[in-house]
Amino acid sequence: MPLPKAELHLHIEGTLEPELAFALAARNGVELPYADTEELRKAYQFSDLQSFLDLYYELMAVLRTEQDFEELADAYLERAAAQGVRHAEIFFDPQAHIARGVGIGTVIQGLARALDRSEEQHGVSTQLIMCFLRDQSAESAMETLEAAKPYLDRIVGVGLDSAEVGHPPVKFREVYEAAAALGLRRVAHAGEEGPPAYIWEALDVLGVERVDHGLRAMEDPELVERLVRERVPLTLCPLSNVRLRAVDVLEQHPLARMLAAGLLCTVNSDDPAYFGGYVGDNFHAVRDALGLELEQMRTLARNSFEAAFLEHDEERRGR
Ligand code: ADE
Ligand code: ZN
Repeated sequence: MPLPKAELHLHIEGTLEPELAFALAARNGVELPYADTEELRKAYQFSDLQSFLDLYYELMAVLRTEQDFEELADAYLERAAAQGVRHAEIFFDPQAHIARGVGIGTVIQGLARALDRSEEQHGVSTQLIMCFLRDQSAESAMETLEAAKPYLDRIVGVGLDSAEVGHPPVKFREVYEAAAALGLRRVAHAGEEGPPAYIWEALDVLGVERVDHGLRAMEDPELVERLVRERVPLTLCPLSNVRLRAVDVLEQHPLARMLAAGLLCTVNSDDPAYFGGYVGDNFHAVRDALGLELEQMRTLARNSFEAAFLEHDEERRGR
């Protein structure tokens, strides 16, 4: 039996497996520049975050209808449930779809179709977190928040993703203030490739409650001290870090040192179709590579519920 856990860092578009990509391409008449799933899988060799993002955005072309988003989410929830996930907080990237003429309503309503039956069908409770693309303008982010207003009852919070370096959190100060005023929770990717200063900014300027990745926090002892003191959760994604060359090999991943420092670490899959594994696979990989004990694995699972945007009775149920 896999450990019950919550997944808090998962891009739904990053769960698009090659088989589903080709099936949707055929259904929607979209031509993919790969002969078959095998050739596509061969393209999953990344040198950094940007080289992954190029393929990630390219493949999204196959996602066009509510049914497509429904099938995408359903496939993820089925796999996640099999790996012990009881609660998932799911990122989506509306700007990447709006840019292709697919409206935010199509995305949210399509995902919602799968999410609405997820507890019953898969035993997984869900939340949606809408991400802004940080390599696009602050104005575009604000327009996206405006476009999401009819669907706010479906969204628990906002996040910030895409190419990090050169796009510091401060760029999105106003849109995060507006999101907070709407009662939305706030998270942001920070310290994946970007410096510890971006983590400080995400906390101080954007008011985030959770840091996505936060991998580079360990370079700044004062920051570590603050994250520990305030029990700010970090949503780490170990297999992603290896595939995107943020760490050379899993054996050198700082997770064990971060746990030892008292940081509230969680383990997640990020974009599992691209990075070689879902969240349970990430748990197993760090256990084996870092020699984590069962008690540390239990701590990681417990942390995931503590860090989730769950009400207290739901949180207890997951433990
Ligand atoms: N979008 C999807 N996956 C991402 C990641 N790991 N970092 C930034 N943006 C992303
Ligand atoms: Zn991510």
